[in-house]
Amino acid sequence: MSPQSVWRAVISGSAVLAVVLALTPAAQQSASAASTDYQAEDATISQGVVEANHAGYTGTGFVNYDNLVGSYVEWTVTAPAGPADVTLRYANGTTAARPLDFTVNGVAGAVGITFPGTGDWTNWQTKTVRLTLAAGTNKIRARATTADGGPNADKLTVTPTSTDTTPPSAPGNLAVSNIKSNAATFSWTAATDNVGVVRYEINRGGNVLKVVDAST
Ligand code: GCU
Ligand code: CA
Ligand code: CA
Repeated sequence: MSPQSVWRAVISGSAVLAVVLALTPAAQQSASAASTDYQAEDATISQGVVEANHAGYTGTGFVNYDNLVGSYVEWTVTAPAGPADVTLRYANGTTAARPLDFTVNGVAGAVGITFPGTGDWTNWQTKTVRLTLAAGTNKIRARATTADGGPNADKLTVTPTSTDTTPPSAPGNLAVSNIKSNAATFSWTAATDNVGVVRYEINRGGNVLKVVDAST
């Protein structure tokens, strides 16, 4: 291409950029929804044994609670402060429900949660309780409250929930400069959010061209 046709290409490119680029801020909410799995067989176990004789577990096995009141599994979980959905994957091959009490750092969290029969020891299901966690390390204990002990326990999945339902403000003053055939400089004024802006996405025609962090 001659220098002139390069220039024409840049000009037409800049017109497209100016018309269809959009900037989207993302707030904390989407960043805090990640789930973390904690295997029961890796947790602290009191009056229970790690076994692997019933198929369908995840990780390397499951915990068979001793069949008595007070047997427990205690997971050490790292989370932000606030509510979290805590899901136990379990199997109960009997027809009688096996209740557990959940404590967080020794404080009652969810009491008398029942784990009904799943039809077979190889049939694993989940049950979720909402617990309030502290920032950092939490000891989540699931303790049997009947002589049957707990259900066989495979893993705990912890999903911090967010109370952030307010979207961030739109970023302002989007400007494009230094436009080249394969590069351009974008600037904008920061979005604001009641919890925190985590990133900006630069979109063109529904495609994400670039993602940058909140301080960019
Ligand atoms: C059976 C089963 C165990 C289970 C136990 C129980 O022994 O194999 O996995 O824990 O029943 O009733 O608790
Ligand atoms: Ca048992
Ligand atoms: Ca497991």
